[in-house]
Order: sequence, then structure tokens, then C-alpha cells
Amino acid sequence: MSETISVLLTEEEVDAKIKEIGEKINRDYEGRSVHFVCVLKGSVFFACELAKRVTVPLSIDFMSVSSYGDDTKSSGVVRIVKDLDESIKDKDVVVIEDIVDSGRTLSYLLKTLESRGPKSLTLCTLLDKPERRVVEVDVRYTGFQIPDEFVVGYGLDYAQKYRNLPYIGIVHFD
Ligand code: IMP
Ligand code: MG
Repeated sequence: MSETISVLLTEEEVDAKIKEIGEKINRDYEGRSVHFVCVLKGSVFFACELAKRVTVPLSIDFMSVSSYGDDTKSSGVVRIVKDLDESIKDKDVVVIEDIVDSGRTLSYLLKTLESRGPKSLTLCTLLDKPERRVVEVDVRYTGFQIPDEFVVGYGLDYAQKYRNLPYIGIVHFD
């Protein structure tokens, strides 16, 4: 099967939005430190760009979860593949996600992280597909709400391809 990509959000649009989110975080966390939990692999590009816009003291840790499913749909069964290196106890944690789709991955992650006693726990996602939501999740920072299309770029993949695109594109399966 071959696929083609069309641009949904340009590099400039994404960069401007990340700058905006960074400014919000700086206002909301003024006088505190913020601890990013970056969900591998899709969120890495977004987390790095966002981190560069944050001026309050920041630390960053990574975790990797796998939802059993095919390439375009998550099954709701989530497994921690790589856990965090550091404790999040008493920290102001911001979970950085690439995209919230059904909400299953984030809902599972939230429960797990909440049980570890962070001082606060909020969510930040570059993209949101509200039409696809199955499980409600409370997202504090959203970059863009997008239609129900499969997207790639800026860290997001289709079968591990296209993560390196500097923009967000829609995949068309021909
Ligand atoms: P959820 O559990 O259904 O919310 O799925 C979240 C995960 O599915 C994301 O972190 C992505 O890894 C993947 N995903 C969902 N939609 C897309 C998409 O349009 N493009 C690429 N990956 C996606
Ligand atoms: Mg993800």
C-alpha cells in the first residue's frame, strides 16, 4: 500500500502555537519548577521545542507506553515499556503528548502517574481529535483541535515513518 501526505499545519503555524503554549506555561508556573513527562516517541519533537520556550526551571523525563493495536488505532490495553527514571513525588508534572485520540492512553497514564503522588498533574498535547474521544480526559494545554484524519509529522508516525517532517500532514491511503 502506498500513501501520500498533504499539509494540514505548516511548520510556521506549529512553531507559533508552541511559543504560545510556552508563554502560558511560564505564566501558570511562575515561581515554581515544572517537570515534563514526555511520552515517547511521538512527543519528543514537541517536548523539545516547547521546553526551549519555557523560562521557569524545568526538568524532563521520558516514558514509553505501548497500546496493543494496529498502526492507526489503539486498543485501550496499555503497557509501560519504559518507565520514568526519576520519582515525580511532590513535583509539578506536565505530561506532554503528541495527540489525544480515543483518550485511552492518556487516561491510563494519568491514573498511573496520579498514584505516585505528584504535587500537581496537568496535560499538554500538541494535537487533539475530539471527535474520536472514547474516554474523557482533562487536557490543560491543547495546540490544535484537528479533524478525524490520520496525521503524521512533528514526531507522529505512520508505521514508524514521517516523524521527521517539520509540519503536520494528513495521510491519504491510495
Ligand atoms: P489514544 O489512546 O487513542 O488517545 O491514542 C493515542 C496515541 O495513538 C497517540 O499517542 C499516537 O501515538 C497514536 N495516534 C493516534 N492518532 C494518531 C494519528 O493521527 N497519527 C499518528 N499517531 C496517532
Ligand atoms: Mg503518543
